[in-house]
Amino acid sequence: MYSPLKLSIKYLLHNLKASNGKGHGVHSPFVYDFIIKVLNGNGHHEQIALIEKQRNDLLKNESVITVEDYGVKGDKNKIQKRKIKDIAATSLQNKKFAQLLHRTVNYFKAKNIIELGTSFGISTSYMALAGPSVITIEGSAEIAKVANNVFENAGVKNVELITGTFEEKLPEVINNTNKVSLAYIDGNHRKEATINYFNLLKEKCDANSVIIFDDIHWSKGMEEAWEHIKNDKLVTLSIDLFKIGIVFFRHEFKTKQHFKIRY
Ligand SMILES: C[S@@+](CC[C@H](N)C(=O)[O-])C[C@H]1O[C@@H](n2cnc3c(N)ncnc32)[C@H](O)[C@@H]1O
Repeated sequence: MYSPLKLSIKYLLHNLKASNGKGHGVHSPFVYDFIIKVLNGNGHHEQIALIEKQRNDLLKNESVITVEDYGVKGDKNKIQKRKIKDIAATSLQNKKFAQLLHRTVNYFKAKNIIELGTSFGISTSYMALAGPSVITIEGSAEIAKVANNVFENAGVKNVELITGTFEEKLPEVINNTNKVSLAYIDGNHRKEATINYFNLLKEKCDANSVIIFDDIHWSKGMEEAWEHIKNDKLVTLSIDLFKIGIVFFRHEFKTKQHFKIRY
């Protein structure tokens, strides 16, 4: 993991090189539309207030739960006792990016949505509000239990939460689905693991599928994983927003295109 200082410098450099996020100078109609309608869109859903109320409650929740620490190794190397409010303060996608996930699901009318890393279900809920259903995987049983309460309290009904490791559960999920429309990978930020999840998911991707990776610049390993994934022969377009990276498999791009956008 990079130090906060190194990450800030990387973020500044990204912003210097990136296009301005308004679509100026972007010649691809697909990318222009994505910038205007998704990145800068303002879709509102009345249930979002209920999800944010859950986030605020979690941020005040002093209860202690026992959680497996998957760390960067991706296995249960430690069991820890942690306050819900401390996990909520560091693990959950912020509102801006959670809304972006919501708009992305909406814009692409994604049907088969898979999330790796539920935590307390905030990003899951945002995606579930926009799509028919979401399958989400969480390794920690006690975290998953809190997520189920969040879904209930926020009135989010269309989520299938699977408790188990990504390594164990993702192959089963992939076997049981015909297609992955949208996948969001937000856990176990390790190079090899991230590439493995991508390789499994891409088996069921088609030209309209979208895969979103969180924390692509978080560490050298994640940056290497992002480079590897961008260069996969099935990926035709990538969009780097620094915090997240998005890859597409669309056929209209005859040569690969990579965009860095300030966001
Ligand atoms: C960053 S949090 C997810 C946050 C959530 N997507 C949100 O924004 O609301 C990552 C979660 O992935 C889980 N996790 C990490 N590695 C895992 C693995 N290999 N298998 C299963 N769960 C894992 C952790 O327990 C943690 O709850």
